[in-house]
Amino acid sequence: VNAGWKMEDVMAEEIKVINNRVGSDDHVICALSGGVDSTVAATLVHRAIGDWLHCIFVDNGERVMETFERDLHLPVTCVDATEQFLSKLKGVVDPELKRKIIGKEFICVFDAFAKELENNLGKKPAFLVQGTLYPDVIESCPPPGTGRSHSHTIKSHHNVGGLPKDMKLKLIEPLKLLFKDEVRQLGRILTVPYSFLKRHPFPGPGLAVRVLGDVTEDNALDTLRQVDEIFIQSIKDAGIYDSIWQAFAVFLPVKSVGVQGDQRTHSHVVALRAVTSQDGMTADWYHFEREFLDDVVQKICNNVRGVNRVALDITSKPPSTIEWE
Ligand code: XMP
Repeated sequence: VNAGWKMEDVMAEEIKVINNRVGSDDHVICALSGGVDSTVAATLVHRAIGDWLHCIFVDNGERVMETFERDLHLPVTCVDATEQFLSKLKGVVDPELKRKIIGKEFICVFDAFAKELENNLGKKPAFLVQGTLYPDVIESCPPPGTGRSHSHTIKSHHNVGGLPKDMKLKLIEPLKLLFKDEVRQLGRILTVPYSFLKRHPFPGPGLAVRVLGDVTEDNALDTLRQVDEIFIQSIKDAGIYDSIWQAFAVFLPVKSVGVQGDQRTHSHVVALRAVTSQDGMTADWYHFEREFLDDVVQKICNNVRGVNRVALDITSKPPSTIEWE
């Protein structure tokens, strides 16, 4: 689509577009997810309008606040809305409904943040920055002429299909024509630390789409975090993190029988997923060494309470998507 673009030119052009759109006394808000896209989008907008940008980070337990403040000088407010999200998701199992609820709840959190800013600054924020990429747009809302109608939507990415129609804030989506590798290039020019830029993508709706079914069941989120940490640390220790587009664990709403320490157990099954990809639109499953897998499975079953079986996802995209929901 964009052969021949130079990222310096893209940056300069986007800064110009943002400055033209945003009035000299308009405030802008941006939700940081901790991922590369929203961080690069916020850094770009900050470059354009400085501290008229106000970021909110909805805490998901990741240690990224320091990067935002110390390395990127972004003005960020951190909010812990875990309980609010979980209460809305209780009992919900349909993947699209989960995504819609999460999208709506994000907007409620932004609205509260916007109101607070209005009280403090005496003026309503007018714009919302989103780190939407080109593949997000294609997969959520296929453009006309592609032969795919809305009934062919693959999944509602929280930042595209999940936004309510009556939202008052106008959107700024400076990465909308870019692919992930281009966003990383842009991030490098904006001096976002390399350690941050090479992080695996993380879905905007968070871990909720990696707990299949009801997120609030069986201590699922805690279990998933523990399994994921073991898996990702093992990948880093093996020196293969940068060869993988994305790796993560999935919590399945399935229990199976096991035997641990001479005891019969009836515990959860988790799945491991790792893929290589150029842009997330298609992907191949990653072939681990057998010894690596033996070691990871042993670590997971020995250390994570409530898990007695590990499955490996060896499906490419297509036919599967990368995330399970
Ligand atoms: P799928 O599961 O559609 O994922 O094959 C493709 C890539 O997009 C990420 N992903 C998301 N990113 N908001 C995002 O910002 C979302 O709602 C979302 N859903 C999936 C996914 O992790 C993969 O890298």
